[in-house]
Amino acid sequence: MKKIFLLLSFAFIFNLFSVADEGMWIPLFIKNNESRMKGMGMKISADDIYSTNHSSLKDAVVLFGRGCTGELISDEGLLITNHHCGYSQIQAHSTLENDYLKNGFWAQNRKEELVNKGLTVTFLVRMEDVTDLVLRNVDPKLTEAERAKAVEKNIKKICDEAVKGTHYQAVIKDFYNGNQYFLFVNEVFKDVRLVGAPPSSIGKFGGDADNWMWPRHTGDFSIFRIYAGKDNKPAEYAPDNVPYKPAKSFPVSIKGVEKGDFTFVYGFPGTTNQFATSYEVELIKELENPIAINMRDMRLKIIDARSKGSDLIRIQYAAKYANIANGWKKWIGENRGLQKLRTIDNKKKFEQAFEEWSLQNDALKKKYYYILPMYKDIYTQLYNSRRALKYFIEAGLGSEIIGFAWKFNNLVKLSHQKNADAKEIEKAVQLLQATTEEYFKNYDLETDRLLFINTMKAYYNSYNNENLPAGLAKIRDAFKEDFNGYTDFLFSKSALASKNKTMALLDGYQIKKLKKIEKDPAFVLASSLFTHYFDKVYPDLIRYEDQLDSLNRIYLQGLIEMQNEKTFYPDANLTLRVTYGKVDDYFPFDTTLDGIFEKEKLEYDDYQVHPKLRELYNARDFGRYGKNNTMPVCFIASNHTTGGNSGSPVINAEGQLIGINFDRNWEGTMSDLNYDASQCRNISLDMRYVLFIIDKFAGAGHLIDEMKIVQ
Ligand code: ARG
Ligand code: GLU
Repeated sequence: MKKIFLLLSFAFIFNLFSVADEGMWIPLFIKNNESRMKGMGMKISADDIYSTNHSSLKDAVVLFGRGCTGELISDEGLLITNHHCGYSQIQAHSTLENDYLKNGFWAQNRKEELVNKGLTVTFLVRMEDVTDLVLRNVDPKLTEAERAKAVEKNIKKICDEAVKGTHYQAVIKDFYNGNQYFLFVNEVFKDVRLVGAPPSSIGKFGGDADNWMWPRHTGDFSIFRIYAGKDNKPAEYAPDNVPYKPAKSFPVSIKGVEKGDFTFVYGFPGTTNQFATSYEVELIKELENPIAINMRDMRLKIIDARSKGSDLIRIQYAAKYANIANGWKKWIGENRGLQKLRTIDNKKKFEQAFEEWSLQNDALKKKYYYILPMYKDIYTQLYNSRRALKYFIEAGLGSEIIGFAWKFNNLVKLSHQKNADAKEIEKAVQLLQATTEEYFKNYDLETDRLLFINTMKAYYNSYNNENLPAGLAKIRDAFKEDFNGYTDFLFSKSALASKNKTMALLDGYQIKKLKKIEKDPAFVLASSLFTHYFDKVYPDLIRYEDQLDSLNRIYLQGLIEMQNEKTFYPDANLTLRVTYGKVDDYFPFDTTLDGIFEKEKLEYDDYQVHPKLRELYNARDFGRYGKNNTMPVCFIASNHTTGGNSGSPVINAEGQLIGINFDRNWEGTMSDLNYDASQCRNISLDMRYVLFIIDKFAGAGHLIDEMKIVQ
């Protein structure tokens, strides 16, 4: 209890000591930051940002899908997020005939809005500190596993009670490495339709070359609409659902932004690890990032070469490629940033100071002195497990056929049960049929074959001929390390490499067919790799990670006790946060439409300009959105953001929408482990450009009519 008091009381010291704009603040306590925010220029109150007594800006911000943010921009459920956040939906609706990726999509009326199966948006109804309840009767002497069980039990009870008799959903998440717990009561909408998306030459302008870079000219937005039942409550998709009426939506400002303007970002940052020890950072920087970067480098080259030769493959692999490339480039930037900041050395020095501090009296010594040696010990043992896991994910699963084959495991297991339940089997078969249908829509055999040869070889080599999983031992023993031969064998013999053959396996499935699946070479390999992981890697991994969880919790208590003048903010955990800063120029680059036409001269694939955009530019037809005879496109600011903040509203002093967050600068991507106020910036799309594209480019003025525009 005392430590919680400590955490909260620090918040009040904030105004005295804070200099940088670092921090991802909990909206429930945003009052503690209010005077600092007002000092920087904010005109609205903390209560306007988060309140449960009346509508507040939190009612206009949603978790979009499972990893992005979106915001409401009309009273008829219109929602805006990034193009890259809606990418898989836009991709899923795209075909060679209707290539919405390439040409964009604009629903001319509500009937034309496109349904997206499985897409949800989540509103926060309220949040509450439930630490005492979660830790009730949890003996501090329990092992980490026992503690987790006890905590789990309490959590279930609290959640059940919190939403009893409502249509809400409840989750509890831990903060400050398990030192504090918050309850989130959420409302989840399930009918979210695609309304509009610019062509990729705008929404993804600059592509992967510009990704994580400043200056930037990407029109990274897409528009959806939330639908509800007639009672305005969440409903499964139905044709007669009606546009959702939100409690709050953002007015959109076209007054523009200037360097030094106050701004804040309200959204769902996913993961940061600011309290990580030098050991953790070293493992990430020296081991995990290089493995992932190398493996992805190889895969990207293969997919890129195949996509260049075929529009179909380009469409099929667009979303997959973007995903692989995004992490690849981020980790390259992260490693450079960590190097430049000498993060490992600095953490080591800090850890030494921590040890010295803990030696000043017996009580502290007992509480904290053992921690760092123990970290060292655990990380030494953990090394191999983390290495194996990384290789498993990045190489073992680097071709798609392995992951796909493993999906048949459930059916195989069910079929083996003594009194196999026919209904359950039938359900499993149906699920696989649907999965197969989806899977092959975006599958190119030759691309996957190339991915397979290269990643499997790398995975094989990662074992240095020690303790090979049976599937890989077979490549050594039966195929004498002839990877081409083995790949030819697997892809020609496996039914799972062909849609027709897979469907034939499933069609009228009977337990007799079980043998066929079990003998399928892709299934045999997948099953060997997964079994090896579950039996040989996972048990150690989870044992050490559990020990780390417990250590991390105590270490953070120690950090707070030691730096009692410092304000701590919790690591990102995909819960709603506020971060604030100022519009910056970073480097004075041209980030108007002029810059787009400068880039076009470089003649890269990623810098092609849509003819309609050129027409508007040449005619200087910017309507009320332009400035100085050109069109502002993006801006940069000092808000502390991370993955998950994509699509977040960037808000001005008056609480109006001025931009949409979509990236960070490459030099700043180490901020997840080591924030640096002088280098870390967030990149946003200017709302004036968004409205210009909707209005002038797409001719979808009816959408603008729904919004409240502030001139
Ligand atoms: N880097 C941004 C983020 O982390 C944008 C990614 C999408 N864009 C791309 N070119 N892959 O999500
Ligand atoms: N593009 C990222 C996202 O999808 C945001 C950039 C970042 O990592 O800060 O959330």
